[in-house]
Amino acid sequence: MKEELPITTWHGPYDAATKARALAALESGNVLYFPNLPFRLLESETEFLDARVADGKAKNISLDHTSGKIQASSLTGEHAVRLAAMIERFGSSAGALVQGLLPYGDVERARTSFRPVQVKGRSYSKISDDRLLHIDAFPSRPMQGRRILRFFANVAPVSHRHWHVGQPFEDFARRFLPQVGPHLPGKSWLFEKLGVTRGRRSLYDELMLSLHDAGKLDSDFQSNSLHQDVRFAPGSCWLVFTDQVLHAALGGEFALEQTFHLDISQMAEPARAPVRVLERLSGKVLV
Ligand code: SIN
Ligand code: FE
Repeated sequence: MKEELPITTWHGPYDAATKARALAALESGNVLYFPNLPFRLLESETEFLDARVADGKAKNISLDHTSGKIQASSLTGEHAVRLAAMIERFGSSAGALVQGLLPYGDVERARTSFRPVQVKGRSYSKISDDRLLHIDAFPSRPMQGRRILRFFANVAPVSHRHWHVGQPFEDFARRFLPQVGPHLPGKSWLFEKLGVTRGRRSLYDELMLSLHDAGKLDSDFQSNSLHQDVRFAPGSCWLVFTDQVLHAALGGEFALEQTFHLDISQMAEPARAPVRVLERLSGKVLV
């Protein structure tokens, strides 16, 4: 479930055995853990280790690397520019690592986030509470079967980031698919027209959202399903397909995260992709 890779550099070349191990671990639904790969802040950036750099409204500060703009930070002027530079340095380092370690070719670099608020003690509705086990599926971002791969760094000086990692995707899907009702024809078209979604939701997107919600709303599943307690040390990083691996973030502060999107045709084993698993289980074409 948590596979350790003892690499110490952000740039390859990495040896063939390391690359093969990384690929197999990731695609089979493990969290790839880099205990010896700290993302180092500059001395001047340690001022950002403060929950008040967030605006208090959104969970995370996010950077759109194509525009260089950050959202949801309380900082302005020169401080905001330096915070954006820190998040960008992390995002491009994560990009280089993924490029060097995995045989995927071009992966799309999506948003980069900084998570400066202690996870424990925040309050949310169940659906948006990531302290509950879930797979990632986002209402406004249809994936059309594409994968969500995320790279995290714990930049907290002392605290671990604490996750639970749940059962294999297929077991989860088998449990919840029978509860998922039919999707209204026309809804995805309307949502796209109204700008609720960026692009059209496929049946795959509707199913993934339903599974995300059904799992979070089921308290028996939350308390009793098999899971592993996983702790990510200060100064470590990890990489995981969060659309496949059930996860819950229970505690920790000061993490950075880079999201990547890729087509299932880029995978070594596309049959392991959630869209293929759900198509097999449901007998339907989903995208
Ligand atoms: C999540 O993706 O559910 C949150 C992960 C984290 O912030 O540690
Ligand atoms: Fe998540």
